Amino acid sequence: MGTSQQLGSGNQDWKERSFERIIGRSSALEAVLEEVERVAPADSTVLIQGETGTGKELIAHAIHNLSSRSGRAFVRVNCAAIPLDLLESELFGHEKGAFTGAIAQKIGRFEVADKGTLFLDEVGDIPPALQPKLLRVLQEQEFERLGSTRTHQVDVRLVAATHRDLTDMVRRGEFRNDLYFRLNVFPVLVPPLRERREDIPELVMHFVEKIGRRVGKKITRIPPATMSALTSYEWPGNIRELQNLLERAVILANDGVLPNPLQSGGRKSFITPLVPNTLSDAERAVILQTLDEVGWVVGGPKGAAVKLGVRRTTLIHKMKRLGICKPRPHSSQNVVDPTLQQPDSP
Ligand SMILES: Nc1ncnc2c1ncn2[C@@H]1O[C@H](COP(=O)(O)OP(=O)(O)OP(=O)(O)O)[C@@H](O)[C@H]1O
Ligand SMILES: [Mg+2]
Repeated sequence: MGTSQQLGSGNQDWKERSFERIIGRSSALEAVLEEVERVAPADSTVLIQGETGTGKELIAHAIHNLSSRSGRAFVRVNCAAIPLDLLESELFGHEKGAFTGAIAQKIGRFEVADKGTLFLDEVGDIPPALQPKLLRVLQEQEFERLGSTRTHQVDVRLVAATHRDLTDMVRRGEFRNDLYFRLNVFPVLVPPLRERREDIPELVMHFVEKIGRRVGKKITRIPPATMSALTSYEWPGNIRELQNLLERAVILANDGVLPNPLQSGGRKSFITPLVPNTLSDAERAVILQTLDEVGWVVGGPKGAAVKLGVRRTTLIHKMKRLGICKPRPHSSQNVVDPTLQQPDSP
């Protein structure tokens, strides 16, 4: 972790406690945790961005725990999980009779989070109609409950997260530019697991031990080939995918030996299909599945391109754009399939 001079030994303990659930020593993760340490006490709005399952919520908790608001509420609202017409009342509250079905007064999450931290998860999913109201509360720290003209003042620290590319959404007119700038005061980018593969062995040991304790199974051996396969896999679902895969592996383990959840044959039954959130997620999932089915052969009559109904060059272009490369089961290196570098025949 950081070696900040200002932190005394007491603070050091506090910091370690806040990060204790965050496993990993890679420089990519350390850089993120250093940013967290710096911004946490500053009370600024933080925008956490990163792919699904990278640990954005854990980071949001750490920011709260390291801030002067740690003794107060940490309130999470998942903007993607709440139906559009209910989100406004969830955030700002409503008076009795504000709309059909408003049978009693409701206190919104901004009020509940007063003096604490409000974590707006999946902020990219906030509907355009609500964006001006969110901008106002961020700028003025004031709002009205639905069905009321009385203005409420709050003191809320906002931490937001999204797996979406907000700049792209701004470009497409789906997200307000001014709201984006207001949220993006302090951006924190959580790197995908494939960019910090050094963390995988430690994460594997951590989860195997933790899951083992929960399901009452002790794993005493992880074969090197299994660890190497886990280290070289792409992990499109990041740490959550790793955790899920290991849970099944631990349950299926015999004689304390962890089976390889990625090995061919066993793989289909092991990998949870990811629910894609964006068009490129969906494209990536389909391409990965097809490549998997054809043994990573791109061209030729039995290749993935034919199965997908696109030209070989188109598929190669898409794979490059989506960062798809062939997993190497026996090396921890992420090597791009050499066939991808061959010049294309006309
Ligand atoms: N560095 C880490 N050490 C230990 N556990 C981690 C780490 N990062 C993530 N996890 C665990 O992985 C799971 C996913 O993390 P989290 O929910 O924070 O991800 P997320 O980025 O919010 O994902 P999503 O975009 O899908 O909501 C959680 O169970 C979390 O505890
Ligand atoms: Mg999350």
